[in-house]
Amino acid sequence: MPAEGPIDDALLPMSAERRDDGHLVVGGVDLLSLADEFGTPLFVYDEAHLRARCADAVAAWGDGVAYATKAFLCTAMARLATEEGMALDVSTGGELHVALAAGVDPARLVLHGNNKSGAELARALEAGVGRIVVDSFDEMERLAKLTAVSDRRPAVLVRVTPGIEAHTHEFVRTGQEDSKFGFGLASGAATEAVARLSAMPGVELVGIHAHIGSQVFRVASFAEEVGVLAGFFTPLGLPELCVGGGLGVAYVSGEQAPTMAEWAATVRDACRAAGIPQGTRVSAEPGRAVVATAAMTLYRVGTVKELPGLRTYVAVDGGMSDNPRPVLYGSGYEAFLPRAVDAPRPRAVSLVGKHCESGDIVVADARVPADLAVDDIVATPVTGAYGYSMASNYNKVPRPAVVFVAGGRARVVVRRETEEDLVRLDA
Ligand code: LLP
Repeated sequence: MPAEGPIDDALLPMSAERRDDGHLVVGGVDLLSLADEFGTPLFVYDEAHLRARCADAVAAWGDGVAYATKAFLCTAMARLATEEGMALDVSTGGELHVALAAGVDPARLVLHGNNKSGAELARALEAGVGRIVVDSFDEMERLAKLTAVSDRRPAVLVRVTPGIEAHTHEFVRTGQEDSKFGFGLASGAATEAVARLSAMPGVELVGIHAHIGSQVFRVASFAEEVGVLAGFFTPLGLPELCVGGGLGVAYVSGEQAPTMAEWAATVRDACRAAGIPQGTRVSAEPGRAVVATAAMTLYRVGTVKELPGLRTYVAVDGGMSDNPRPVLYGSGYEAFLPRAVDAPRPRAVSLVGKHCESGDIVVADARVPADLAVDDIVATPVTGAYGYSMASNYNKVPRPAVVFVAGGRARVVVRRETEEDLVRLDA
């Protein structure tokens, strides 16, 4: 159950200010004026917050750290992250295309994916991406063919499945290889992958990579990961070790997420303890922790349905098409009114969307001010990661616009989809 007090500062982007009239201002812009100007639903990103998290990542991990673009990507975001010194992790040809369209130096790109097509690999080679993380023997064969007729010799890492999986508050030693990703350690597949890549003239094997999960609150899980990887990695004498992404963030008050610096320090200590050579380029690829708290979604309330003795449904003009996480993962969020940011939130409601199914929930157990009414703008904080990037057109609801706010100004970085866009692809 979320708190009944005013929304917690920890869930708001760093430049959020509570004004005397009760309004919330982000990046120097009143959220209500943003809703008026750009319409709703609207994703609002605090640019200062994005830049600060990128800078934190670079300070914590150094030069090789990559932003996992799957969390949120558009050309403006690709530019922002690279301006702040991050590399970019792209996991499909589509993400690669957006990064290249943004003008990002291909050498700063790391290509992932458990089923990279020949076309995706060819595009990556042609562009000259900095790293390719090899995920399967089939991919290796595709790469061997492509590099045989190319003058590029890409740097590659081997994706290893360490047999541990981190959940939010714990890690689980799965002790098995049951994953669609990478090469298992226990089965010897990882050893064979290293041998085959080392013998492949067209690639330069530079390191190993692993990823243990997402929304991880317990940094010790990453230490565990390093412990498992070290015995395999160290004898190889390779220069790079990437521990993947996964650092968690707080979505509701009371949750406590580690900082980027704590995460990196834990991994570095674990590397030292496990005897991983000094001078190894130890890196990571955070997505969520860079962008989640930077943004909130603004919606307009359309209906309030009170069912005495049951519950109150507050319906907004978006829903599972702009935030599928509650439906997919049962994820919790909070809600507040940007016109009354300091107001207590005694009223328990279910914040729901406008889609044609009952599971279309935005915040199952929301707490809102007593006077919430039709036409109010309601905000859900911490929607910057895996919201817009997983958005859909379900029920032919056009996808929202995305704005970046900074220095008292808002700029549209992704325009709102129009109804015309909804028939653009129809033949
Ligand atoms: N690196 C690799 C290889 C990954 O698979 C992922 C995420 C990341 C980095 C970035 O992880 P992050 O730092 O964002 O946790 N849609 C889900 C999250 C899926 C994450 C998939 N892989 C959600 O909304 O919670």
